[in-house]
Amino acid sequence: SRGNYRHFMLKEIHEQSEVIAKTLEGRLGDGHVMTNIFGSGSDALMSDVRHIQIVACGTSYHAGMVARYWIEKMAGVPTQVEVASEYRYRDGVVPDNTLFVTLSQSGETADTLAALRHAQSHGGYLASLAICNVPGSSMVRESDLSLMTHAGPEIGVASTKAFTTQLVSLLMLTLALRYARSGDDALQARLVGALRQLPQLINQGLALDGDIERLSSAFAEKHHALFLGRGPMFPIALEGALKLKEISYIHAEAYPAGELKHGPLALVDSDMPVIAVAPNDELVEKLKSNLQEVRARGGELFVFAGENVSISEGDGVHVLRLPEVDEVIAPLLFTLPLQLLAYHVAVLKGTDVDQPRNLAKSVTVE
Ligand code: M6R
Repeated sequence: SRGNYRHFMLKEIHEQSEVIAKTLEGRLGDGHVMTNIFGSGSDALMSDVRHIQIVACGTSYHAGMVARYWIEKMAGVPTQVEVASEYRYRDGVVPDNTLFVTLSQSGETADTLAALRHAQSHGGYLASLAICNVPGSSMVRESDLSLMTHAGPEIGVASTKAFTTQLVSLLMLTLALRYARSGDDALQARLVGALRQLPQLINQGLALDGDIERLSSAFAEKHHALFLGRGPMFPIALEGALKLKEISYIHAEAYPAGELKHGPLALVDSDMPVIAVAPNDELVEKLKSNLQEVRARGGELFVFAGENVSISEGDGVHVLRLPEVDEVIAPLLFTLPLQLLAYHVAVLKGTDVDQPRNLAKSVTVE
């Protein structure tokens, strides 16, 4: 039931702290992630993996895009990510010892399942791993290995808690791959510590709900919005744009901020709100100069910024602060305000938040 919440989506947003804690439970060791959490034989397999191919759709695809940044940077394993509807019809090259990873809330998405079967019939693969929220689903049954996200039933068509529990699972995969390659180290100890603190941090992020609700009126009359991020925050911008499209029917696009001057800057004027996700990471100075370019063209800026990022409120610049956080964890934290923003804009517009027009929760046909 929805309990005291007006919509399932809002309830599911607020459950994220609890379900992330459940997803982590029993999977963190002392200073590293346990390598056997993907099923029997998975610890031995982790060190044999030479390439990773991730396949998914929609929001799950965005989780895969974040994972690529994490896996290549911290585990050093070359990783590719592709939407399932493209992958399944393409005769791509599969390098030896590839781990084939599907990401899916439902475990029944037709294209993702077909991509898995396509991979299994083509060889080159070491093993398949499903990161999935529904136990006993087709994807889990047909994969060699699995890791369940413990998000619980997700009713809202717009995926929220499934996404953040996928991210947590993918960070555990990253750290398991690293451990299998180099044993214990300070980075793993740091991130295992950060993961343990995460449920509490998520609640701090959700405390922004009231501020975001006040901000949402600035969007209700708009026809377009542009989301910007860099590095692993680019897929988070994509996810923010997808959420806004799905439930508020406002046309939204996301760009890696460095691409602005290669085209989309032409769209920016005072009718185009620009939302930026700006944690205190190694790319924040570059992002800030991209935002100045937007402001110079009259674009109104809504910046979700880390506590210590030096950017100030002013004419046409709205800044909302999020707690300072390890930059690896930032994609998880900065997802929350974008989910809340889409939700409040949709409520203001009076759309059917939990069942947006034209969409189904589980896409079991092509
Ligand atoms: O069940 P899956 O994770 O495989 O579903 C994939 C997409 O259909 C899903 O994420 C969709 O994009 C959501 N409506 C996004 O909010």
